Amino acid sequence: MTCTHLPDLDNAPFGVLRLPRGILVGAGQLRALPHIVRDFGTSVLICTDPRLAASDELRALVTTLEEQGLEVAVFGDTEAELPVPGIMNCVEAVRGRRIDAVIGFGGGSCMDMAKVVAVLLAHGGTPSDYYGEFAVPGPVLPVIAVPTTAGTGSEATAIAVVSDPALGMKTGISSPHIIPAAAVCDPTLTLTCPPALTAATGADAFVHLVESYTAVARPGTPELARERVFIGRNPLTDTLAIEGVRLVGRSLVRAYREPGDESARGDMMLAALYGGMALSNAGTAAAHAIQYPVGTLTHTPHGVGVGLLLPYVLRHNFPAIRPQLARIAEALGADVRGLAVEDAARAGVEAVDRILAEIGIPATLAELGVREDDLGLIAERARNSRRLIDNNPVPLGLEGLTAITRAAFAGDRAFRA
Ligand SMILES: NC(=O)c1ccc[n+]([C@@H]2O[C@H](COP(=O)([O-])OP(=O)(O)OC[C@H]3O[C@@H](n4cnc5c(N)ncnc54)[C@H](O)[C@@H]3O)[C@@H](O)[C@H]2O)c1
Repeated sequence: MTCTHLPDLDNAPFGVLRLPRGILVGAGQLRALPHIVRDFGTSVLICTDPRLAASDELRALVTTLEEQGLEVAVFGDTEAELPVPGIMNCVEAVRGRRIDAVIGFGGGSCMDMAKVVAVLLAHGGTPSDYYGEFAVPGPVLPVIAVPTTAGTGSEATAIAVVSDPALGMKTGISSPHIIPAAAVCDPTLTLTCPPALTAATGADAFVHLVESYTAVARPGTPELARERVFIGRNPLTDTLAIEGVRLVGRSLVRAYREPGDESARGDMMLAALYGGMALSNAGTAAAHAIQYPVGTLTHTPHGVGVGLLLPYVLRHNFPAIRPQLARIAEALGADVRGLAVEDAARAGVEAVDRILAEIGIPATLAELGVREDDLGLIAERARNSRRLIDNNPVPLGLEGLTAITRAAFAGDRAFRA
């Protein structure tokens, strides 16, 4: 299906992809993990959370690693959203012990824990020493990421997100040095995700894909990849992002409704990985910037917040991203044959709306408990996420952020001309 008048977007000659050295994807690939660990040494730390630490999967993994003669330490107290004090507890727990590699086994919180611990074991200090872009001074311990949710894409990203009580909000360490050395993406690990978790994490992946695909495009100067971790959309990330959108269209609702559907879980694991690859290079934008203060205020799961905001962000950015939205419509299976770009683009946004509604993402900020009085503060705080705001396809000041936040509060889904 091809809509008419769609400009060719793929002629830009410049692209950047920074990725793990090795990525394994597929049902049963967890069994390959001992061989991968062996490439890095004989002593490994596994960062996981209490639920997963008590799981059969983790027990079996530790046994297999030990049977291969590897020394294994498990830190099983990773907290959701990764508060900084918990990270320091992990570092203290292994101080003085030889660690050759760090495995992050779990959702984004556990994988990000592994990344930050790998930084601190290599370079010392505390997480705040490394906030922002390019602040990690050199290579860190090798991280092996094993996702058990299909969402964050952290298995492939140059970012770790932490909650810093001293700042009262989430913040990030962004550096190519923290890209996992290896990722093992075994979708069978996600079969136990209940529908609400599948929805929140699936929405997260969906937003990564759509925001990367609709991010600003920058001129490809030779300096760009050294000046920015997130360089904007480019042909390499576009290819991954649009294929990820197609997989989400095919399988997110199915994985939500039928948790045991292995093929839907396989698609979503791949979609989340593509989302991570795309976001780590292109970058995300306004939905992520606004979600940070919303998450602090409402304690909403990250994926629910960004999923709720995406329809409003796309409408705000609409005039600048019509060709991309038209392609998203195609990827999500909308029949756009013969449509003008404007109409195909609207069909793309409406297809995004439909998927998010079908997996139960709330429609308005009011439903999350946000009050009208909070909107100014949310817009003001969102403005602080400079790297995300800079990545938006239309310049965003306080006025634009306020407009998006107000629309998301009121459920105003009017398109901008
Ligand atoms: N580094 C990145 O690139 C990146 C990108 C986006 C988000 N994040 C961060 O990732 C974190 C969120 O990660 P998440 O959404 O994967 O959730 P999570 O890691 O916080 O886990 C949420 C809950 O799901 C449970 N869980 C995990 N796997 C499960 C399974 N297979 N079955 C049943 N329960 C399971 C966990 O035990 C936990 O209770 C946030 O801190 C977010 O900011 C990081």
